Formats: sequence, C-alpha cells, structure tokens
Amino acid sequence: MYDQIERKVAEIRAEWEKVCTGVNTPQELEELRVRFLGRKGYIPRLFAVLRELPPQERAAAGKLLNSLREEIQRELEALKEKIAAKAEAERLKREAHDFTLPGTWRGVGTLHPLTQVRLEIERIFMEMGFDVASGPEVETDYYNFEALNIPQDHPARDEWDSFYIGEGLLLRTHTSPVQIRVMKSRKPPVRIICPGRCYRRDNPDATHFPVFHQVELLWVERGLTMAHLKWIIEEFVRQFFGPGYEMRFSADFFPFTEPSAQVHIRRKDGPWLEIMGAGMVDPAVFEEVGYDPEEVTGFAFGLGIERMAMLKYGIDDIRLFFQNNIRFLEQF
Ligand code: DAH
Repeated sequence: MYDQIERKVAEIRAEWEKVCTGVNTPQELEELRVRFLGRKGYIPRLFAVLRELPPQERAAAGKLLNSLREEIQRELEALKEKIAAKAEAERLKREAHDFTLPGTWRGVGTLHPLTQVRLEIERIFMEMGFDVASGPEVETDYYNFEALNIPQDHPARDEWDSFYIGEGLLLRTHTSPVQIRVMKSRKPPVRIICPGRCYRRDNPDATHFPVFHQVELLWVERGLTMAHLKWIIEEFVRQFFGPGYEMRFSADFFPFTEPSAQVHIRRKDGPWLEIMGAGMVDPAVFEEVGYDPEEVTGFAFGLGIERMAMLKYGIDDIRLFFQNNIRFLEQF
C-alpha cells in the first residue's frame, strides 16, 4: 500500500512539474490549485486513501503526502507572486508617462492690440523726453470746451457732441482737456503726452465707435515753432510705421490751436491718410492757464489710437477692437 502511495505521489509531482510552467493568469493558477489541492483535488483525495493504510505505514505515507502538499502550496504561492509581478509590470508600462513628449500649451493671452499700440506710442515719446499724464474721463464743460477756447455756443461744439451726465459734466470728447489740467498745475516748460479713453455720441460704423482712444501731445517752451512740431511727427511716423512714408500738412481749424493743421501720411503712391490734428497752441489757451504767450510758444496734437492700429495692421473696421473676439485679438 505504501508503495502505491509513493508511486501516486511521484505521478502527481510529475504532473505538477509539467503543468506549472504553463500558468500565466490568476484564473489558470486557480484551476491548478483546485486540481491539486481543491476539496476533490489529487492530494486531498490521496489523504482520504491514507485512512485505509495499516497504522505502521500511515505515518510515513502521511509525511510523504504532507511534504508534497507543502511543496505544491509553496510553488503556487511563488507562481501567484510571479503572475502578479508580471501584471504589475505590464500595467506600469501601459500607464507610463513619456516625459519627453511636448507638453500641452495653455495660452497665456496677449495684450489687446490697442494696448500694444498705446504702449508703443508711449515708448516712442518717452524716449524723446515726454512725460505720460492723465486726466478724468468724466470732465467738466470748462475743461473739455471752455478752457480750450470753445465757448458755449461755438459751432465747433457740434463736432464733439457728447454724453452729458449732469449739469456741466460730460464724458470727455477728447484728451485735450488734460493739456489744460497739466498747464494749470505746472510752470513751463511742459512736455507731456496723455493717452486715454474718449467718448462721442457717434453711431457705430466701420470708422466710428462711441468709445475710442486718443493720445494727446503738448510741448510748451520758449522758442518752439511749427518746424519742431513737424520734426516730432516725422520722427514718430518713422518709428511707428517704419521708413518709406511721406507726410503732408494741410490747413485745418481747431479753436485751441492757431495755425491748425491736419497731418496726412502715405506710402509710395498710396492714398493720403489723415493721422492727426495738430497746431500751435492758441494764445487764448495760454492766457486761460496763466502762461504768457509773449514768453512761451507751444504745439499740440491729438491722434486716435484706433486709427493708428488700423493703419499699422490693415484693419478695416474699428468695431473689431471692441467685440472681444479671441480669433481676431490673438492675431496681434
Ligand atoms: N482734440 C482734437 C480732436 O479730438 C484733436 C486735436 C487737434 C488735438 C489739434 C490737439 C490739436 O492737441 O492741437 O479732434
């Protein structure tokens, strides 16, 4: 009987050795476990036979069987770990991150084209020695008109029809009132630019919008002439638009300058484009702010930032600046 057990144990071990190498998945492993160690598996079945052995053989056969069972249990355990390690390695490989791949770019946004143009204009004039000044967007009739030599019933007011907020208060129609505020608070010489938002009661179309931006320039000193003004504008055009532009002054009228001019530029034989209003500060304005027109002269201009941006970038509709369409804005 013991011999039979011994032979059986050898058979089971041989079978185990044959099949255990082909296990790859936890399911296959479980099938093996059931086949060898399960309730009706080879080994428990053999233990059942043990009871039929004569007592003197039982102990030795039991030892033999136990060691086979322990051996198979150990190897099952080892196989289980191997399969788990392999699965883990595959999972890591599958989920691995390739840190050499290019990242996903999250846009940080760009400055609005009007801001870019304003900063560029500020840079050009600051390099020429101008300060940047500012004033309120809600102005008094006095600063927006009166002090600029535009009295109550002056027809020039039609050009600057505005949004009135209350008695004598309006949204400023140009940046020129900042000239007055600065001159009233400083003694000459004065050399400033003032960029800022302006408002007019215009219906929106390709070239008008009720909100827009201007840059005002003012230089007051002893002995300034229109030639200085012309040089400043020429230098600005060269820096802002690049070389190859012609410039032309033509007569205009502004109550706060005398003489007054409109400045046009053109490239090659292209059309003349108006870029600003300008002129020599009217003596009446100097008297209003307490400067002596016999003592100092000065010049000023006002340009539209939208106009500059449209000419520089070839934009044909001013409304694009205010629609906040990312696809338009991110081109600059
Ligand atoms: N303020 C004028 C406007 O809004 C522009 C202007 C013209 C400003 C002549 C000036 C100037 O300083 O000298 O139309």
